[in-house]
Amino acid sequence: MKHYLQFQDFTADEYEYLLKRATLIKQKFKGYVTHHTLADRTLAMIFEKASTRTRVSFEAGMYQLGGSVVHLTTGDSQLGRAEPIEDSARVISRMTDLVMIRTFGQDKIERFAAHSRVPVINGLTNEFHPCQILADIFTFIEHRGSIQGKTVAWVGDGNNMANTWLQAANLLGFKVHVSTPSGYGIDEQLAFSGRPYDKGCYQLFSDPQEACKGADLVTTDVWTSMGYEEENEKRKKAFADWCVDLDMMAVAKKDALFMHCLPAHRGEEVQAEVIDGPQSVVWDEAENRMHVQKALMEYLLIGKQG
Ligand code: CP
Ligand code: NVA
Repeated sequence: MKHYLQFQDFTADEYEYLLKRATLIKQKFKGYVTHHTLADRTLAMIFEKASTRTRVSFEAGMYQLGGSVVHLTTGDSQLGRAEPIEDSARVISRMTDLVMIRTFGQDKIERFAAHSRVPVINGLTNEFHPCQILADIFTFIEHRGSIQGKTVAWVGDGNNMANTWLQAANLLGFKVHVSTPSGYGIDEQLAFSGRPYDKGCYQLFSDPQEACKGADLVTTDVWTSMGYEEENEKRKKAFADWCVDLDMMAVAKKDALFMHCLPAHRGEEVQAEVIDGPQSVVWDEAENRMHVQKALMEYLLIGKQG
């Protein structure tokens, strides 16, 4: 049994399969072709933080695969009344086939997985957001072909998205230019969970404009992630120069793409002209969450197909 708790849980070969499978699954969806590979299977979705895309993409995706879902939040389950995560895992995994969790610390999802009888998927933790990066890479390939050897500019917080980009770069052979305000940088040990990695897979830049030079993809995220709301005012000051604007896009490659996992704050981490401009692929990126996660759920439950 496999879990998907961080990006580096899968090999490059597994990603090659998943990305190909997601292409087929997307084509079938677009052509209204039934694809019920997970008939009678049930996905439990546990949300300890808010969500729009993750909820809709997993829920719609599971129904489209012929399965069903159970939606739980901290507020309406015993999780909010301090039932131990280990006990919740034992119980929920006896009644369902697959579990997706969005929570705070990575340790929580690791503990759940350690006591689960069924595969567990990370739907975002403070440390990682692997499903999002899977969708982002799928989106890049759809628009520009292989991501191998390419440069991704990360402008903003050294957060869950940034950590996951680094794992992906290390595994799939591309490079990340990282520019964060001081005090909000990447923690390498945390980003790679202490596992060995190629130091050349990323480079730090104090100037965000420099990080964008020659990039094939420019990407950012909110200045304040969920769970860090009390730091909001302090962060607004620290991140003021880390807004992806037209000047940053102008120094990237001519055909550079812009991505943002969403939700976005126009005028903060990104200028409206960029996110709503011709280089932005954020709506494809959001939609692709569903297609790649369908491939992921299938792979975890029934293995490689075809
Ligand atoms: N990008 C993303 O995970 O969006 P939600 O928070 O809406 O799920
Ligand atoms: N870094 C953001 C991503 C939201 C999808 C957060 O964790 O809130």
